[in-house]
Amino acid sequence: MTGMNNQPIGIFDSGLGGLTVARAITERLPHESLVYFGDTQRCPYGPRPLGEVQLFVQQICSWLASCNVKLIVIACNTATAAGLAMAQQVFDIPIVGVVEPGARAAVRATRNRRIGVIATEGTVESGVYQEAICALDAGMTVYANATPRFVELVEEGLRRDGDLEQVEEDIREASLHPDFVRIAHDYLDPITEAGVDTLVLGCTHFPILESAIGEAVGDGISLINSADETAKDVAEILAYRGHLNDSDQTPQHRFITTGEDLGEFERLGAQIFGAPLDGLEHVELTS
Ligand code: DGL
Repeated sequence: MTGMNNQPIGIFDSGLGGLTVARAITERLPHESLVYFGDTQRCPYGPRPLGEVQLFVQQICSWLASCNVKLIVIACNTATAAGLAMAQQVFDIPIVGVVEPGARAAVRATRNRRIGVIATEGTVESGVYQEAICALDAGMTVYANATPRFVELVEEGLRRDGDLEQVEEDIREASLHPDFVRIAHDYLDPITEAGVDTLVLGCTHFPILESAIGEAVGDGISLINSADETAKDVAEILAYRGHLNDSDQTPQHRFITTGEDLGEFERLGAQIFGAPLDGLEHVELTS
């Protein structure tokens, strides 16, 4: 098909977290234009019934498809768990989730074939990671735990002023606080005691917590961040289809939020994305 190459890549998340994936994609594919959609109004997805999240996925994919995107990345683990399969059946462009790339990286990294996963309640309850990991190697043992307080901690950290390094530093400091240490141990001890050597950060917010989680689990456990793995997949799919943008034009990104507070989305989002979110737009979706 001609004319595909210059079309943007659509990316969405329940809010800001998917910008970790958007950033990884622009680092790997600097010529590609993006349309990023953050469904801030209905965030968090983690505690919602999967059927409801599936409707959100369908709605946002339709919205992105109407922007003529050439591929959609569901940059949210909960949305991937709830709606990736449906979206792939309904839409006629490639749709990529974040679960399979993370599962693949974990299967490659583990030496003892015991993998831990931390994610939202929705993702853990859906069993998608167990399924994706065991589809690659049926001999794997997976220990998954829902860690909703980690999402809150990242959001609190982001609400303070400062660039991402400062936020990460603040979070690292907060991670020494006895309250965090207790929460982290409650969440992570059952996984480390199960003898895993690899831990999947199965939520878009967790790359920001990577060093704090690393400290809590100790050395000897590899942490898997699916943002980079997903970006690799996107690059491969577009290359294979001959849809990479090969023009020298500066990419044009669009950022959309369903939330009311554009100023906050812009400020926090720029920290995660690593560049200003120029021309942020508000879009209303009916529930
Ligand atoms: N983006 C979600 C995920 O990766 C985390 C935040 C939420 O619960 O919406 O699962």
